[in-house]
Parts: sequence; structure tokens; C-alpha cells
Amino acid sequence: MLNIALPKGRLGGTVYRMFAEAGFSCPAIEAKGRKLIFEDREVGVRYFWAKPSDVAIYVERGAADIGVAGKDVLLEYEPEVYELLDLGVGRCRMAVAAPEGYRDDPQRTLRVATKFARVAQRHYASLGRDIDVIRLNGSIEIAPILGLSDVIVDIVETGATLRENRLQVIETILPISARLIANKASFKFKTEQTEHLVRELSRRMGV
Ligand code: PRP
Repeated sequence: MLNIALPKGRLGGTVYRMFAEAGFSCPAIEAKGRKLIFEDREVGVRYFWAKPSDVAIYVERGAADIGVAGKDVLLEYEPEVYELLDLGVGRCRMAVAAPEGYRDDPQRTLRVATKFARVAQRHYASLGRDIDVIRLNGSIEIAPILGLSDVIVDIVETGATLRENRLQVIETILPISARLIANKASFKFKTEQTEHLVRELSRRMGV
């Protein structure tokens, strides 16, 4: 049985369809409801929905053999997992944003609000800039508006959240997309199934 952790939400649905087309279908998962774990014994697969930022934890600790996590989460938590494939979906970018008209004073310590403290720290360390990281869990965009921070480091997908809150990107840090990850021990013991999945996904993506 291959245990697969999928990120709950829109991305999870897209990724499940990719897996199903690659031969790892589990029709029960498509029923509407609050159930979180689904298995198909014939195919030999068990899926479960996890919070996107938790998928890597399940995979790192072996509760899942395989999972799908955003590159943002992998960069932030640096889990001990294999990154097997860029799935080419969930594309967005990690960026620095600030209120329209913001002027930086390079002499001052920059106050940065973010969910991605390590990503922010690494980015500014590479620029030799001192920052004060303010860790938040969501709605990051309101921090500079309310004077809690100077800028934010966050994910930008369509840009709508920034626009509607009168913020703008001042710097792009990295492109982001969803990655197929594997537990290191599982990969050794379930190599055949895992490689089959990677091959079928790659073939469908035209890689
Ligand atoms: C993410 C991110 C931005 C938004 C960007 O938030 O933190 O707020 O999506 O998307 P956009 O560029 O398409 O507007 P999420 O929806 O995950 O909610 P959060 O505020 O709880 O982090």
C-alpha cells in the first residue's frame, strides 16, 4: 500500500487528478464530505488530506510514503525528504511586497512580517541587510498597513490580494510550484511503485 499525503484545497484536487490519470485512482476520494482518509486496495493506494504546511511532516516521519508540498514549505522547513518531481502546478512566487509609495531606508533594521521566517532571513542575509522578523500565520498583507511591519515576504499568485490592499511587489525572491516528495526509507522499500508513479506523472507532463 502506498500512503500518499495530499494538500487539502484546490491544489490537492488538481494533484489527485494527476495521480489518478497516472494509474493511482481512488474514486472514493471524489465524494463530497468531511472524510480525510481513502483507500483503494486493488490499486494499492491510500490517500489522505493534510494541511498543506503539514504534508512534509507526514512524509518526513514516514506516516506518508509520498506527498505533495509547495516549494515554499520545503524551503522554509527543510524537511529530510527526497524531492522527486516538480509537478508544474500551484505556480506562484515568493516576493517582498510593501504599501504603494513605500521608500526603504537602508540604514534602518527592516521589519518583515511573514509566515516564511527562514526564507526571509536567508534572503536578507544574502543582501547583508539586518531584519526584524515578525512571524504571522495568515493575512500577512495587513501587517504593513497597520504599521506592524515595513514589508511582507509572502506568496503572490494572481496578485489580487496585494492589489486590493494597495500593496505592490518590490522584489521577487523565488518562483514556487508543487513538488512530489518521498520519505527516504519508503523510497528504498517501495522503489518500484514510487518510480512507476514518477515515470507516469512525468510522461503525462511531457517531461
Ligand atoms: C496566500 C498568500 C496571499 C495570497 C496570494 O494566502 O499568503 O495572501 O494567497 O494570492 P493572490 O496573489 O492570488 O491574491 P492564503 O490564501 O493561503 O491565506 P492566508 O492569508 O491564510 O495565508
